[in-house]
Amino acid sequence: MDFTDVILMRRTTRSYDSRQINEADLNSMLMAAHMAPIAGADYSKTHMTVVQDSRLLDEIRQACTMKSKDAKPRDPLYGAPTVIFFSAHGVSKDYIEYSNIGCAIENVLLAATNLDLGSTYIWGCLRRLRQHTGLIEKLGMPNGYVILSAVAVGYPMEPLAQRSPAKNLSVDII
Ligand SMILES: Cc1cc2nc3c(=O)[nH]c(=O)nc-3n(C[C@H](O)[C@H](O)[C@H](O)COP(=O)(O)O)c2cc1C
Repeated sequence: MDFTDVILMRRTTRSYDSRQINEADLNSMLMAAHMAPIAGADYSKTHMTVVQDSRLLDEIRQACTMKSKDAKPRDPLYGAPTVIFFSAHGVSKDYIEYSNIGCAIENVLLAATNLDLGSTYIWGCLRRLRQHTGLIEKLGMPNGYVILSAVAVGYPMEPLAQRSPAKNLSVDII
């Protein structure tokens, strides 16, 4: 895909079908993450955990789902068959680990779009996951790593469609 087409095609997918992505596509997204800018080129403190085991994903879904009397429970991973968790070795005072991971995730989102796959930046529900020490252990991250963000990927229920460019952010040119 042309670069501008990728930018305009990317959107957050919130409904996936159950088909698993193939290994070549996964590797292409992981390559995009590996090539992301990381502060000081200190690659040693960022880790990715790819989860495709449907039973483990179900457990994670359960742990992440908001349990409230008023709100209808909804799948925080939107049925995605693959989730890549990004963790960092601790979080420094300036939160640079979140920026590093944000860069890697954006690369994954764009790589997924280029493959006509849907993608979702996952953040909000991870607060609940971090409280489930047993599940965190199952993810087998290196010692001292904390999950900061995740990306869900898979085949979107609705195919991606190009959007018109929008000026979403305010800008000053001085
Ligand atoms: C840091 C960050 C965290 C996000 N967390 C979530 C999330 O937990 N769940 C979700 O459905 N979308 C999440 N999103 C996706 C945004 O809601 C989405 O990008 C925004 O609504 C704009 O829509 P678009 O991606 O289709 O352009 C997150 C995006 C970012 C950048």
